[in-house]
Amino acid sequence: MFSRNFCHALAGVSALLGMLTSPVYSLGSSCSAPLTKGSAGPNDPFWMENITHQGISAYNANPSTYVVFRNVMDYGAKGDGVTDDTAAINSAISSGGRCGGDGAGCDSSTTSPALVYFPQGTYKISSPLIALYQTQLIGDARVPPTLLAASSFSGIALIDADPYLGDNWQYYVNQDNFFRSVRNFVIDLRQVSGSATGIHWQVSQATSLMNIVFQMSTAAGNQHQGIFMENGSGGFLGDLVFNGGNIGATFGNQQFTVRNLTFNNPVTAINAIWNWGWTMQGLTINNAQVGITITQGQTCAQTGCAQGVGAEAIIDAVVINTPIFIQNSAPSNGALDGSIVLNNVKLTNVPIAVGVQNGATVLAGGSITIDTWAQGNVYEGTSGNPIFTQGNLASIQKSSSLLDSAGRIFQKTHPQYIDYAPSDFVSVRSQGAKGDGQTDDTQAIQNVFNEYAGCKIIFFDAGTYLVSSTIQIPAGTQIVGEAWSVIAGSGSAFFDYANPEVVVQVGAPDSTGVLEITDMIFMTHGPAAGAIIVEWNVHDPSGQQAAAGVWDTHLIIGGSAGSQFQGSECPTSQANGYQPCFTDFMGFHITSGASAYLEGMWVWLADHDLDGGENLSLYSGRGLMSESQGPVWMIGTAVEHHVGYQYYLKGAADHYIGLAQTETPYYQPDPVPPAPFITVSAYDPQQIGQGAAWAFTVENSQNILLFGAGFYSFFQDNNSTCQTSQNCQSQIVNIDTQSTISVYSLSTVDTTYQLSISGQGIINRSNNPNGFADTVTAWTRS
Ligand SMILES: *[C@@H]1O[C@H](CO)[C@@H](O)[C@H](O)[C@H]1NC(C)=O
Ligand SMILES: *[C@@H]1O[C@H](CO)[C@@H](O)[C@H](O)[C@H]1NC(C)=O
Ligand SMILES: *[C@@H]1O[C@H](CO)[C@@H](O)[C@H](O)[C@H]1NC(C)=O
Ligand SMILES: *[C@@H]1O[C@H](CO)[C@@H](O)[C@H](O)[C@H]1NC(C)=O
Ligand SMILES: *[C@@H]1O[C@H](CO)[C@@H](O)[C@H](O)[C@H]1NC(C)=O
Ligand SMILES: *[C@@H]1O[C@H](CO)[C@@H](O)[C@H](O)[C@H]1NC(C)=O
Ligand SMILES: *[C@@H]1O[C@H](CO)[C@@H](O)[C@H](O)[C@H]1NC(C)=O
Repeated sequence: MFSRNFCHALAGVSALLGMLTSPVYSLGSSCSAPLTKGSAGPNDPFWMENITHQGISAYNANPSTYVVFRNVMDYGAKGDGVTDDTAAINSAISSGGRCGGDGAGCDSSTTSPALVYFPQGTYKISSPLIALYQTQLIGDARVPPTLLAASSFSGIALIDADPYLGDNWQYYVNQDNFFRSVRNFVIDLRQVSGSATGIHWQVSQATSLMNIVFQMSTAAGNQHQGIFMENGSGGFLGDLVFNGGNIGATFGNQQFTVRNLTFNNPVTAINAIWNWGWTMQGLTINNAQVGITITQGQTCAQTGCAQGVGAEAIIDAVVINTPIFIQNSAPSNGALDGSIVLNNVKLTNVPIAVGVQNGATVLAGGSITIDTWAQGNVYEGTSGNPIFTQGNLASIQKSSSLLDSAGRIFQKTHPQYIDYAPSDFVSVRSQGAKGDGQTDDTQAIQNVFNEYAGCKIIFFDAGTYLVSSTIQIPAGTQIVGEAWSVIAGSGSAFFDYANPEVVVQVGAPDSTGVLEITDMIFMTHGPAAGAIIVEWNVHDPSGQQAAAGVWDTHLIIGGSAGSQFQGSECPTSQANGYQPCFTDFMGFHITSGASAYLEGMWVWLADHDLDGGENLSLYSGRGLMSESQGPVWMIGTAVEHHVGYQYYLKGAADHYIGLAQTETPYYQPDPVPPAPFITVSAYDPQQIGQGAAWAFTVENSQNILLFGAGFYSFFQDNNSTCQTSQNCQSQIVNIDTQSTISVYSLSTVDTTYQLSISGQGIINRSNNPNGFADTVTAWTRS
């Protein structure tokens, strides 16, 4: 969430998603009629339209009247392509006392979620639709509705996730602009003759865009743009198609992961204005004048300087009939600004692969495949000496289990079950769970899994479901939440940090089957020193890559209404001691028999209260540990503020991770980790972080690819003075001598050694300054 004012350079439908391609296995439940295919008729609307809507917000001031699900038609929208639906849609979004607005004084909230649903149709829009905090805007996934910009459209964009109020004030602090999703739309700008933008997406973690087609002008001189993102701390977006336009997407944000973007006939596909590090996976650019423009800033450390594009890591791109793929604004000349890694980039009729605006060709193109190429500082083994490189690197070894049949990193879109009918779902609330944030729902939820897993898709109506002992989700289960439904572990079963207990067990140990979780949040209610919030045991069935995964699903630990980890319990002054502020033993544990596809997942220990604003000192023992033998994909994940480590791979194999983002707890080194916890050898690395948590620590693991990382340390003793010497912690990434792993596009902040081997600092940050961050373009074992 780290907020800091610094300036930066500013340059300026297919509806096949989520279809199950294979039968759902039913291994755990007693259901008699396994769900093998959906029963929606050819002309039925998306199940979401007609499923019974009974979601609640448990901690809203008026839980019995607050409405979570809103169909825009119920607020007067017509969707006829003629009527101006702007006001009706904005009323659907804003009714019921939402968070944000001019003078509303609300930066964030967890008590007013909304899922705003758009049936099939064409909605004429004349000014921005304001996507308030904790809003999901979801179109019918079977026939995505069109948002049609009226010829008179005026405003920053058709959808605005963070409106400007003048004097540079905005509804929300961009680095704290969480919980937003936009899905299943066609956004059509073509009636606007002047400039127009589809989405203003200035957001942070727990946000997504998916399955959106941007229709823009192809006329010479048009000023259409699909996405405008000028800052924030994201995030994930994917499965987007941009047709035409002057700029497909303007991207400026600390870090982001994007997957499966296709640009057809733009002038510039991507206009990258600044970042600390991005990963782009599965990029297709057809017939652009420029693929990606990269703005370099001056190298600067602290105040009053411009931040350019720090690092781009691009994997599995296809570029066709485009004169230049990547255009730097200035030559790199050995400065690290504009670190680039390219892997598996297929060019067809692209004369220049990497060039400089009005300058020299850095890498010639043609019709070729670029295996692995880098611009920046490259390291090998235990040598701390960088080799500035603009050239090919050795091929990246990837386990075949991670790849699709074309040799790309496997991708799987957030499942939406478009062929399924409401009758294919079972509601946990209809089955007796309350989700009111007070009732113990353990038995009711377990009964639903026991009876329906594999027979029905399990629908968690919006709400907060308290559980007092382990919930066991059998292999074969598909779970769908509503605007992030919450399961929260609570009570004495989770008190003891010497005897941890799982809150949500996903699959029995060593089980196999489909397991899909979307739009859920997992957490604890205080105190819960012994909670392992999610234990992930299930493995893909043979031949079904990524059958077991989570999408748009997060661990939001503390800092929310009702959590009992808020400002009054756990201020940074630590007035109440540690005891009430132990949130969990570990966030997410992937066990050795599991596989996992984790996309757009944030494992966040709150540093501030989303419902009160106070800064907090909370204590989560560990972030995410994987012992999986693979395949594991972590695509756009972040793990923040855990005491011992954020990511820990132990005896793991065959992982693709990109981009990974972390922050270290602000209070460290008071206390020094593992305090206030104790070491438990099964869950802790042999080498404990020196006075601060590890961002990423790897032991005895094979075939690990870290492709893009942003590992940040901003404080010591809750005090940011350490930033002036850029030394808020000494080491942050640790790799033992047994592991085979390669690391690309690693950006760290305010950490002396960017990479260590067996606890020995190897890469000194002072060789790699890259604006606010420091970047290692590549490190390989040998
Ligand atoms: C689905 O819901 C819409 C909107 O409430 C309603 O008009 C329609 O009749 C429903 N369709 C079915 C098949 O129930
Ligand atoms: C976000 O970007 C806008 C446009 O460049 C700029 O005016 C604003 O100052 C930025 N905000 C922060 C906090 O960087
Ligand atoms: C990429 O996104 C497009 C548009 O949403 C979709 O049709 C396609 O199936 C996606 N590709 C993959 C590999 O998921
Ligand atoms: C910083 O955090 C530590 C640990 O929670 C606490 O003991 C200390 O009082 C905090 N300091 C300030 C200035 O808030
Ligand atoms: C929380 O901490 C941040 C970073 O130190 C600081 O800028 C902010 O003012 C603090 N907020 C409150 C409400 O104390
Ligand atoms: C942070 O540390 C600096 C340098 O030690 C000190 O001057 C300053 O008062 C501290 N700030 C706070 C809020 O404790
Ligand atoms: C890192 O390198 C700089 C510049 O050579 C040097 O001053 C500093 O002492 C080095 N840091 C460590 C911890 O060795």
